[in-house]
Amino acid sequence: MYGLFVVLVAVVATAATQSCHFGSHCPSSATCCRNSLGEALVDSPGFGHFGGISLTDRSGQCTSQLSREHQICDSHCHCEPGYECYTPMSGVCCPPARCYNATWVQQQKDYWQKCMADPHCALPP
Ligand SMILES: *[C@@H]1O[C@H](CO)[C@@H](O)[C@H](O)[C@H]1NC(C)=O
Repeated sequence: MYGLFVVLVAVVATAATQSCHFGSHCPSSATCCRNSLGEALVDSPGFGHFGGISLTDRSGQCTSQLSREHQICDSHCHCEPGYECYTPMSGVCCPPARCYNATWVQQQKDYWQKCMADPHCALPP
């Protein structure tokens, strides 16, 4: 029993202190890499700016902390329950995926699916 406790503490401590630059460097117990500001360091090489947020601090720690509403997310950094990781439809190149209200995301997906099938539907600027 004591031995199991020690192993668990060791695993948690290791996960909590593992440094990273991308979520893909993190273990399955703490898949998200976040910098000191709590910003998710998503796997998008070549982009220093994310929707106005400048990620100057590109080194972080692996964590299992979830992204809150409007925070950046990806396949490693998941959203809190009720929110979905979604990239808004936009004419501007490559906005990052963020956590949005899951109900709203479903509405957006339905809307754009219909829009794509309709030749008169205007795409965003
Ligand atoms: C998402 O939006 C719906 C409808 O506006 C609302 O009922 C629901 O509480 C929202 N969910 C969260 C997690 O805020």
